[in-house]
Amino acid sequence: MPQKKRLPEAYDIRSAEDAKRLYGEWATSYDEELVEENQYAGPELAASVLARELADRNARIIDIGCGTGLVGERLKAQGFGHIDGLDLVPEMLAVAGTKGAYDQLVEADLLAGAPFADASYDAAISVGTFTHNHVGPAGIDEVLRLVKPGGLFVVMINVEAYASDGYQAKFDQLVSDGRCRIRATEEGVLFGTTGLVGRIVVLDVG
Ligand SMILES: C[S@@+](CC[C@H](N)C(=O)[O-])C[C@H]1O[C@@H](n2cnc3c(N)ncnc32)[C@H](O)[C@@H]1O
Repeated sequence: MPQKKRLPEAYDIRSAEDAKRLYGEWATSYDEELVEENQYAGPELAASVLARELADRNARIIDIGCGTGLVGERLKAQGFGHIDGLDLVPEMLAVAGTKGAYDQLVEADLLAGAPFADASYDAAISVGTFTHNHVGPAGIDEVLRLVKPGGLFVVMINVEAYASDGYQAKFDQLVSDGRCRIRATEEGVLFGTTGLVGRIVVLDVG
């Protein structure tokens, strides 16, 4: 029987419970639906940007909202060897565990706090998790807490959510508070099938 298509539902979730249900049911068909059927290019693009901006392949990296591990796979292909992943949904983490890219995979709600000490990582990356009805701009503070001063955060956000959900105002506030500096912003196609664009922001953590 053909798998139910889930991508249209992903922007309609309303709570962590909705996310757990949707991604719990989607985990085993997520890669096929996104990568093969929708030409999902976000993980490849964001991983390439981190690889360009961070020379140290021994850097400790946390992948926020790692899902099934598409970002970790691309980072591993770029030569990074110390990647941890955090996600809300155990079924997604179970698929990520099959990719052989992560040292640790941790189940946690970013908005409730990540179970890591301050400044545990040299860099953070997140693709598709800061988006409509998932994690909003408020979650960025928790990511910055995890990154060492002088470290990097690469985040890819679909341009529609970027415009409507207050990301620019959040980044402006963080810069004016001296908590980070914007090193680069660029745009790239998230889904080849629809041409939906994502904005990649590279932050130097202060
Ligand atoms: C669209 S998927 C992106 C997964 C992966 N980064 C990728 O690009 O394929 C969004 C992910 O965010 C996770 N997520 C949603 N809310 C979260 C939260 N509050 N804390 C941690 N992860 C969350 C979901 O479980 C899901 O795996």
